[in-house]
Parts: sequence; structure tokens; C-alpha cells
Amino acid sequence: MSQNNEPGRLIWLTGLSGAGKSTIARALSERLQATGVKVEILDGDEIREVISPELGFSKEDRNMQVERIGYIASLLTRNGVDVIVSAISPYRSSRDRAIARSSRSFEILVSAPLEVLIDRDTKGLYGKAIRGEITGLTGYDDPYEEPIGSHLKVDSHRLRLEDALSLIEEYLNFEVSNV
Ligand code: ADX
Repeated sequence: MSQNNEPGRLIWLTGLSGAGKSTIARALSERLQATGVKVEILDGDEIREVISPELGFSKEDRNMQVERIGYIASLLTRNGVDVIVSAISPYRSSRDRAIARSSRSFEILVSAPLEVLIDRDTKGLYGKAIRGEITGLTGYDDPYEEPIGSHLKVDSHRLRLEDALSLIEEYLNFEVSNV
């Protein structure tokens, strides 16, 4: 439970489309809420709809999207709300900057091999990319820069959701005091 003026945590889920970020975000949010903390999810698709409708998927636009998410997250975390971000956020430097806006932050790479994502293709995007109907799909024909600093990698194709959540909770408990 956040007490006094302790800032909330920023839990930033990054990774390719379909890797499981949103599913993990929703389940983690429920788990954290059950412990009595205030939690908000900032989801890339939702933010695009409401805050960033003019943005596309160029490097500049993605960086702008990530910057906006980092800013909104910082408003919440500084007021004691835990924030779970679920956004591809493919470029390391803008992602790092956005994450650094909050003082208690955790970066989590939600990862699965491209073949698995193509096979699942929950949103039909990979099929479209393969058929040449769209270009610039992250991980297929657009860059994705994995985290290199301190982060947790969750292999969503190998872990059950429950196990992924346990791993994440363990990671959150190993918070280095940088508050
Ligand atoms: S980010 O790259 O700017 O961080 P964000 O997470 O906000 O991405 O939005 C990604 C969502 O946009 C995906 O979940 C998918 O539904 C949709 N999308 C549409 N076109 C693309 C594309 N070319 N690359 C990635 N995602 C796309």
C-alpha cells in the first residue's frame, strides 16, 4: 500500500504486438489492486485512440507516443498511483527517457519469437504484413530495440500467465532504492 507521499511504481511493458503485454497488464493490475494500491493501465492502442489519433507508426510518431505515455505516467506516479504501461515502445532512447520520468520504475520485456506471433496473429497484422498489405510492422519490417539496462524478460510463449505474474511480482519486490 502506498503510504505518505511515496510515489507510485511505473511498470513499463515493452515488446512486439501480440506478445502478451495487454493480457499481462490487465492481470497484473487486478493482482496489485487486490493488495490495496491504486493502479492505472496506459495501453498503447487506447492512448492512440484518445490522445494520439494523429500519430502513425514512423519513428518520430512512435517516439512522440512514448513520450506522451511517459509524461502521463509521471503525473500519476508522482501522486502515488501505480502505472502499468503496455506499449510496443520500440526505440530504446525514447523509452528510457519516458521511463526515467518516474522515480520508481521497472522495465519488462514481454517476448515471444516472431514465428509464434505470426502463428497467433491475434489482430491479423502479421498476415497483412506478409501479404504486403501493410508495411512498417514492428519486428517484421520495422525495428524493435530490446532493453539493455536493468529489466526483466518474460518469455510469454513459455510461461503460463500465472507464472509470468509471479515472476513480475518477484521482480517488483527486488526494488532498488532509487526513490
Ligand atoms: S508504439 O510503437 O507507438 O509504442 P503502440 O503500442 O502505441 O506502438 O501501438 C501499437 C498498436 O498499434 C499495436 O498493438 C497494433 O494494434 C497497432 N498497429 C497498427 N499498425 C502497426 C504497426 N505498423 N506496427 C506496430 N503496431 C501497429
